[in-house]
Amino acid sequence: MFDIHSHILPNIDDGAKDLSESLALLKMAQNDGITHMVATPHIHIGRFNNSAKNLYSDIDVLKQEALNAGINLKLAVAAEVRLDIELMGLVMAGQLPFIGKVDSVNYLLLELPHSHVPQGYDKFINWLAKQNIKAIIPHPERNRDIQSNPFYIERLKQLGCDFQLTASSIEGAWGDTAKAISLDMLQKGLVSYVASDAHSVKRRPPLLSNTKKLVSDLIGDFEAQNLFINNPKRLTECLFDE
Ligand SMILES: [Fe+2]
Repeated sequence: MFDIHSHILPNIDDGAKDLSESLALLKMAQNDGITHMVATPHIHIGRFNNSAKNLYSDIDVLKQEALNAGINLKLAVAAEVRLDIELMGLVMAGQLPFIGKVDSVNYLLLELPHSHVPQGYDKFINWLAKQNIKAIIPHPERNRDIQSNPFYIERLKQLGCDFQLTASSIEGAWGDTAKAISLDMLQKGLVSYVASDAHSVKRRPPLLSNTKKLVSDLIGDFEAQNLFINNPKRLTECLFDE
């Protein structure tokens, strides 16, 4: 399986605190049947001011440490980018790490604030499209505005966004509303990816296998295979070394 959303780089955001926690997360992921993992640290202007440059050097260090620890997992890096008007400068400067490329279109993991859908989100997403960038919205099911007004899902889809659910939302860890929205989106075929959004071994672990079984029961093996393997593989092919 591919896990395309995780906070496994040490001491860089609110994910893994240090190298030993990073390695523990990687081992856990490997034991769960994950073969490819994309580190997606937050780029959140004013809170986590990570840059493409520091992320690329950090992933090289983690790859080497994983190798030394005997972990056989393919690793790559992108970012979870918080929607902010100031991102326009970073886009124009080519300083945002994309999560993938399909048919010459770049994909950005574009996070909405947890509490709301900000004004002007539609204009910003349209502006991204003009720069040949398509947004993947992570965890829409956990956004409070979307929870109270699922119309936003339709609107974001119309704007050309794809969606990535959090695996643990499907299992109910984020509450009944997040679970209900997740199941509804799965049944309506609105989901392209499921990922762990792993932050720590205890709080949000990098586990997908149990969720994949639940998804198979809900919408069939073929679709589950697409969400956990085929779609993320196609998306992130350009990020992995081989
Ligand atoms: Fe995340």
